Amino acid sequence: MLELKSIDLKKVKTETLIIPVCEDRDIHDDRMISSLITRAKKLKEFKGDKGEEVIFYTPPEVKADRVIFMGLGKLKELNAESLRTVAGKAVKKCINMDLPEVLIASPSAKKIKMEMPLPLEAIIEGACLGNHLFDKYKDEKKHSSLKKISFLVKRDVAESSGKLLKSITTICEGTIFARDLINTPSNDKKPEQFTKIIADTAKKENLKVKIFDEKELKRKKFGAMLAVAAGSESKPRMIVLEYNPKDAKKTVALVGKGVTFDSGGINLKPTGSLEEMKSDMSGAAAVAATLIALAKLKPKTKVIGIIPVVENMPSGNASRPGDIVKSYSGKTVEILNTDAEGRLILIDAISYVVKKYKPETLIDIATLTGACVVALGEKIAGVFSSDDELAQSIISSGEKTYERCWHMPLPDDYKEDLKSDFADLKNIAGSRWGGSITAALFLSEFVGDTRWAHIDIAGPSYMKKGNAYCGVGGTGFGVRLFCDLLEKL
Ligand code: BES
Ligand code: MN
Ligand code: ZN
Repeated sequence: MLELKSIDLKKVKTETLIIPVCEDRDIHDDRMISSLITRAKKLKEFKGDKGEEVIFYTPPEVKADRVIFMGLGKLKELNAESLRTVAGKAVKKCINMDLPEVLIASPSAKKIKMEMPLPLEAIIEGACLGNHLFDKYKDEKKHSSLKKISFLVKRDVAESSGKLLKSITTICEGTIFARDLINTPSNDKKPEQFTKIIADTAKKENLKVKIFDEKELKRKKFGAMLAVAAGSESKPRMIVLEYNPKDAKKTVALVGKGVTFDSGGINLKPTGSLEEMKSDMSGAAAVAATLIALAKLKPKTKVIGIIPVVENMPSGNASRPGDIVKSYSGKTVEILNTDAEGRLILIDAISYVVKKYKPETLIDIATLTGACVVALGEKIAGVFSSDDELAQSIISSGEKTYERCWHMPLPDDYKEDLKSDFADLKNIAGSRWGGSITAALFLSEFVGDTRWAHIDIAGPSYMKKGNAYCGVGGTGFGVRLFCDLLEKL
C-alpha cells in the first residue's frame, strides 16, 4: 500500500524514516528533518555523498525507531533519476532488513529546483518499482515486499496529489506485470498459457479481448507468423486488446513481439545466446501491460494492442532456411534465417492492424536484434521512424521516464539488401552490418502510409544485474514510456 502523509514527526510514531540528503544543500522543508541532517553530517563517515548511508536509532528529535540518511550527492547532479534510485534503494534496504513499512521524506521541489510533481513522481516510482520481488519459483523465500510505503509531504501536497499517486501506482503495477511475464520461464508461458494470462487480466479491466487460435490464423492467412510457429508443439495465438473510450478521435495501435522462447529454430542459437530467450516476449508484455494500465488511467485516445504469440523451435515441422511463405499482406518472404523470426510475426500483425483498424499512429516494440544492442548497449532502445515528430515524442517520453531511446536512421537505399532472388523479400539482409536498421526497414515494407515507429528493446528489456529499482531479469521497459507517450499523442 502506498500513501501520502503529512504528519508531525515529533508526535506520530514511525518505524523507519528515510531522509534523502544532499551533500551541499538542505533540500527539506521540515525543520526537524533539517536538524537531524545537521547532526548526521557531523559524523566523519557521512557527508551526503552519492551512495553514503548512516542510521540513527531512536533519535531524541523524532518518534522513530530508526532514521536512515541516504546520500544523493551534489545538488547540481540531482535529477529525477537520482530520486528514483534513492527511493528504490531505500525500499530494497528495508526489504533486506525485514522491516515491513517505511516512511520516505520527499524533498522540497523548490529547494532542488524541480517543478512539482516531478520529484514526488520520481520518488513514488522508484519506491513502487523497487518493492517488486520475483520469488514465485523459490521454495525458500528469503524476504517479502514491504506492506506499506508512505511519503512524507507538505499538507497541501498530501491533499492534492491523491490522483497522481494512483496513476503512478497503476503505471508501476503495469511495469511489474510485464516484468513478471518476462521472468516467467518459457515452460510456463507457452503461447496458449501466455495468451490466457494476458486475456484474463485484460478482461478484469474491461478491455475488449479477442484471441485468434491456430485455426483462425490459418483461415485468415497469417502465413509469416505460422511459418515461425511451425516448429513448435505449442500452437500460436494472436491477441487483440482494445481500449475504446467514448468519443475517441484518434486510434493508436501498439504491436508487441511475443516469442515465448526463441531457440533460433533450424538456425539454432549457440549456448550463451539461448539462456535469456524467455525474454523474447518483452515487447508483448509491454503492450499488454500498457493496455491494462490504460484501462485504469482512462486517456481519451483509442488504443489497440496487437500481440502475435509464438514459440520458435527446431523440429521436423520447422521452417527451413530457403522456405518461401506468403505473409498476411500478400507479399512473399524467403526465410533465409529462421532466427530472424521476430520480423516475420510482426509483419503479419502490422499488416492486419493497418488493414482492420486504420490507426493514425502505429508503434511496434520488439526484442528484435542483437545488432541494436551492439549499437546502443544494454540500456538504450533504438527508435526507427521516418516521422521525426513521432520519434521525438518517443525520445522525450524516454527522457522523462528514463526509459532511454535513441533515434536511429532508416536509409532507403539499404532496402536493396532485402531483395530476394526468389520472393518479394528475404528476412535477412545480405550484409551483417547495420542489422537493426535492415530489420526495421523490413518492417517498414508493411506499414503502408501509416505514421509508424519501431522500438528495438533487445538491450533494455532484460537486466543481468539488477539496479536500485529493478531486480535481475525483465525490466518492463516500454510500459512507462508508452503511458507517458499516449498522454501526448
Ligand atoms: N530475439 C533475437 C534478438 C535478441 C538478441 C534479443 C539478443 C535479445 C538479446 C532475434 O530474434 C534474433 O535472433 N535476431 C537475430 C537476427 C539475425 C539472424 C539477422 C540476431 O540479432 O542475431
Ligand atoms: Mn531470433
Ligand atoms: Zn527473437
